[in-house]
Amino acid sequence: MNVGNEGFEEMILDHYRNPRNYGRIEHPTSAITEYNPVCGDALHFTVNIRNSRIEDIKFIGRGCSVSMAAASILTERVKGMEIHEVEQIREEVFLKSLGIYLGPVREKCALLSLNALKKIAGGKRDES
Ligand code: FES
Repeated sequence: MNVGNEGFEEMILDHYRNPRNYGRIEHPTSAITEYNPVCGDALHFTVNIRNSRIEDIKFIGRGCSVSMAAASILTERVKGMEIHEVEQIREEVFLKSLGIYLGPVREKCALLSLNALKKIAGGKRDES
């Protein structure tokens, strides 16, 4: 059952078609790749953190419409945030803010980017 309204669905489609912050930062302070084990899709995030604040963030990768739209939306939201604030974003609050009902499988798609950013906030990053 879809309990979202058309405005929210339009927002997801818009972010999927025109992803914000798509690309890669040269010489980022942090970078991480997060995989969805269910489908094998992966998103790669590069982040510049200065004075504990997210100055810039970009992502690239391959994923479904939900994962790509969620990454676009999340990167917009966290830009300028203190890194510890990212750790406090609750999964259920982020999912609700997307405005569409997602079953458990699609929720994993939507949470891919949040999981990645929480790992960065916790000090985890790709080996280089
Ligand atoms: Fe792969 Fe959604 S189906 S991330």
